[in-house]
Amino acid sequence: MKKVIEAVDVGYVYQTKYQKTKALAGISCSFARGRVYAIIGKSGSGKSTFLSLLAGLDVPTEGTLTIDGEDIRQMNRDAYRLRRASVIYQAFHLFPLMTVTENVMFPMELQHVPVKEAKARACEYLQKVGLPESVYRKRPGMISGGEQQRVAIARAMASGGEILLADEPTGNLDSQNEKVIVGLLCRLAHEDHYAVIVVTHNEAVAAAADVVYGMTDGMLSVVRGERI
Ligand SMILES: Nc1ncnc2c1ncn2[C@@H]1O[C@H](COP(=O)(O)OP(=O)(O)OP(=O)(O)O)[C@@H](O)[C@H]1O
Ligand SMILES: [Mg+2]
Repeated sequence: MKKVIEAVDVGYVYQTKYQKTKALAGISCSFARGRVYAIIGKSGSGKSTFLSLLAGLDVPTEGTLTIDGEDIRQMNRDAYRLRRASVIYQAFHLFPLMTVTENVMFPMELQHVPVKEAKARACEYLQKVGLPESVYRKRPGMISGGEQQRVAIARAMASGGEILLADEPTGNLDSQNEKVIVGLLCRLAHEDHYAVIVVTHNEAVAAAADVVYGMTDGMLSVVRGERI
């Protein structure tokens, strides 16, 4: 299976004026398209820090992280974030003053996709995540949490990237909506060939993943599934 992301001896140190915090150390692992990966571990173990490196929000302070063989330090990380890797969060982070459709059109606007095409594609993604047309013109504040998370996933798809990162995507949802989101993430990996990487405390999410990595004190190990 082709690796899309590879980490070799990745470490990360948060450095402030007064102190250093070693958040990640010696992480070597890889991620392929078509699979769902869960990253589990205690609070403060480094999960979100690792996800932010995978998202290109920051670069490792040690080791190398490569995307399709290219070192993330050498890459145009703005383009990587805009076109290839999207992050969804526990709190959805939708734009409150835009409608559902406008939220999903936003990444395409940044990529200068013509409005008509962006609108058509937005509808396609919204259908894909199973949202009824009745919510398309509403603002995020007027729809449920489960619906908001589906909008966030549709918006992530709209960037056109193949890497979908999620930090506790079901943290704010009840078990019914949790199931919908988990099913959706699995479909995106297995049918549409995304590499889906999910940080989670949730056992149902981890159970649905193809590979489970465990983070302990900034170090990653395989809990279930094989290395590629
Ligand atoms: N901005 C920051 N500056 C300094 N230290 C930080 C910063 N963010 C996180 N840390 C530290 O880095 C370590 C890893 O934090 P991280 O947020 O990655 O943990 P986590 O596994 O996501 O935890 P949680 O499950 O609570 O979200 C912790 O010791 C944390 O205190
Ligand atoms: Mg976290």
